[in-house]
Amino acid sequence: MDGNGRWAKKQNFKDRIFGHQNGTKAVREVIEASREIGVEYLTLYAFSTENWSRPKREVNALMELLVKSLKDEREQLIRNGIRLNSIGDISSLPGNCQKELEKVKELTSLNNKLVVTLALSYSSRWEITETIKSIARDAADGRLDPAAIDEAFINQRLHTGGIPDPELLIRTSGEQRISNYLLWQIAYTELYFTDTLWPDFHREEYYKALFDYQQRERRFGKTSEQLNT
Ligand code: FPP
Repeated sequence: MDGNGRWAKKQNFKDRIFGHQNGTKAVREVIEASREIGVEYLTLYAFSTENWSRPKREVNALMELLVKSLKDEREQLIRNGIRLNSIGDISSLPGNCQKELEKVKELTSLNNKLVVTLALSYSSRWEITETIKSIARDAADGRLDPAAIDEAFINQRLHTGGIPDPELLIRTSGEQRISNYLLWQIAYTELYFTDTLWPDFHREEYYKALFDYQQRERRFGKTSEQLNT
């Protein structure tokens, strides 16, 4: 969800935080649209491990915004059958963020229409490192035979265990890089880049990305002829 700061500047707001505040409106719209059209899994990169290095004031504002959004949206999520999930180093978030997040996760845990995963204090290399450490510990303690480690096993042990690999990755604001996001999981994901800044990423922009995705042929290494016979 990139481009909040630039959006605020473009609107002549002095403060980048206005961009983040308006970014939450786009989050709400994309979640609603996903539920309506039958997307089953939506993962949002809300705060990266690297984002901790931003000015303290911005970090605090983002954390407060997260708590406010969780409180404001709780009832809607419950009512609409949406399950909230998270990936990342949740223990590094401020106490009130952790508490609110866990509360909404618990309250929505039986919902199954759409799973919304927030990547918070997340970086893919961190996730992979932690997963390797945990697998290595199990092997060292004799709980795991290294010969049993295969791709499916690693999939299950990552924070995204239970969530299918993304079919489509959308990056807003004209940046064309992956920025330490789901590196293992996006091996065969279709990529979509748009110049639209995140707060302007409304329903129509989302549909445009999905329509673009629908035109693609996902070959997973096979030939077009193989897929069509
Ligand atoms: C990147 O834009 C955006 C972020 C670091 C924060 C994203 C957060 C939200 C959209 C709001 C809170 C989220 C939830 C789930 C309630 P940037 O600040 O890097 O923009 P820039 O590249 O234009 O500076």
